[in-house]
Amino acid sequence: MNIMHPYIIAKKYIDNCMRQHVNPLSSNFNQIEIIPSLSEMFGDSKSNLHLDIGCAAGDFLFDLALVNTSWNYLGIEIREKLVKNAKLKVLEREIKNLHFIFGNANNILNDVQSKFIIKNLKSISFNFPDPWFKKRHYKRRIIQPEFINILSNSLQKGTLIFIKTDVKDLFDYMDYTISSNFYFKTIDKKDFHYSESFNPNKVKTNREKYVIVNQLDIFERIYIKI
Ligand SMILES: C[S@@+](CC[C@H](N)C(=O)[O-])C[C@H]1O[C@@H](n2cnc3c(N)ncnc32)[C@H](O)[C@@H]1O
Repeated sequence: MNIMHPYIIAKKYIDNCMRQHVNPLSSNFNQIEIIPSLSEMFGDSKSNLHLDIGCAAGDFLFDLALVNTSWNYLGIEIREKLVKNAKLKVLEREIKNLHFIFGNANNILNDVQSKFIIKNLKSISFNFPDPWFKKRHYKRRIIQPEFINILSNSLQKGTLIFIKTDVKDLFDYMDYTISSNFYFKTIDKKDFHYSESFNPNKVKTNREKYVIVNQLDIFERIYIKI
């Protein structure tokens, strides 16, 4: 696992996350890449599968994949250059339990060719999604009622959704959207066994490290598909 100086964490976060904002509703993202089968993506296609949505450069997933080799990790990110670099790193390091897909996660998971991904997931994380503060931009937020419906229709019972953000308004919005769906129930963090999850060592994302260094609040919740 990488241990980085707080200055490097902040700079890395700013480089990866704050300099470019992409409008996910742009028609540039209507076309999605061909999704390989699980056995093309991973060395062992039967391992538990975790999906991280909005994974940026994928540092969090690299940290997880290198340590938890009995899990497969999949990242979806809308900024193409970050995905190209992450895919190159996977090839160079010959990592067999990590794969990245470029595009708007809403479009990708709404497409019939990725139904098998949703069906095979054990968990999904939304870590510090873009907040899109202006009301007229709320529709650009990754979590939308239609998106949660797609997930609730295809996820297996018992699949977990993790949300985390430092923006209270965004947290309330995401929590309301997920909780309004009858098929998702909140899990109390006290009753949750991280050791059995996709992130047993509580590895942190770049944004989370930045938030901790800057002593900001973190709002998080776990849901289970019932
Ligand atoms: C604020 S950054 C957080 C990155 C990382 N999860 C973390 O915690 O450090 C949000 C990321 O989500 C990506 N993103 C935003 N909307 C997306 C979408 N619709 N589909 C896929 N990725 C998206 C952004 O490009 C950005 O990399």
